[in-house]
Amino acid sequence: MDVPIVDLSNPNEDLVARAVVKASEEWGIFQVVNHGIPPELIRRLKEVGTKFFELPETEKEAVAKPEDSVDVEGYRTKYQKDLEGRNAWVDHLFHRIWPPSRVSYRFWPKLPMDYREVNEDYAKHLKKLSEKIMEWLSEGLGLRRTVEYLMKINYYPPCPDQDLVIGAPDHTDVNGITFLVANEALGLQAFKDNHWIDVKYTTSGIIVIVGDQFHRMSNGKYMSAKHRATMDKEKTRISWPVFVESSLDHEFAPLRELITGEDNAPKFKPYVYKDFKFRKLKKLPLD
Ligand code: OGA
Ligand code: NI
Repeated sequence: MDVPIVDLSNPNEDLVARAVVKASEEWGIFQVVNHGIPPELIRRLKEVGTKFFELPETEKEAVAKPEDSVDVEGYRTKYQKDLEGRNAWVDHLFHRIWPPSRVSYRFWPKLPMDYREVNEDYAKHLKKLSEKIMEWLSEGLGLRRTVEYLMKINYYPPCPDQDLVIGAPDHTDVNGITFLVANEALGLQAFKDNHWIDVKYTTSGIIVIVGDQFHRMSNGKYMSAKHRATMDKEKTRISWPVFVESSLDHEFAPLRELITGEDNAPKFKPYVYKDFKFRKLKKLPLD
């Protein structure tokens, strides 16, 4: 069993749209190939991000997340424990990449020199791809105009003992939809029918993960895929998810046209996205 692959170069757009909907219903995670983002740009995105993480700690601290910040943007090391008591730690960097009005360059690395140019170019391309996929997932998710794009880089050092350490513990993403590329080390796993499946992405394939916000807006029609990241025994693993989400003050609820079934009742409560994120982070009850 493998995570579905959708080839976007198929000229029959109806077929492509149907494949995306089917993968979202059955899996909540899939890989898109021939997606129109130049492979050379993806290669450069990985190169500039990797170079940043290879800089001395003092250089990286220049874009550190401020101690008193309530937002996620900036560089930091995070430590937590998963349900089985494994340690999870990862260095990561978050910075918004879209829309321009929400970009704070103070959290974008100054080095390497082409970091900014490459990330701006990637944002433009990814926005096009994301809008296509959102359009296919629903005519009227009604989000297209208010979404933000948040870049994250996860840096997982090699780890010989897989039983003690995990990169990212199991979770579903809180946002609408996530687009992930990674370096050559594999390690992303998706939970499907009670099994953890290795996600075998290609060098320029993009992994699409449906998150809680779309799961709830679709009234459960689209799955939000449970996933986790393991660490490689020998290689450093780096991943670049971009989280597409509504603005923080957007109120979202199951869309009326997607509420089906005999009782015709929404399965989820409406939330202001900011409150939803907070409650999930703090593991407070949601429904
Ligand atoms: C995440 C995530 C997976 C990975 O950051 O939300 O799921 O492969 N990362 O790094
Ligand atoms: Ni995730």
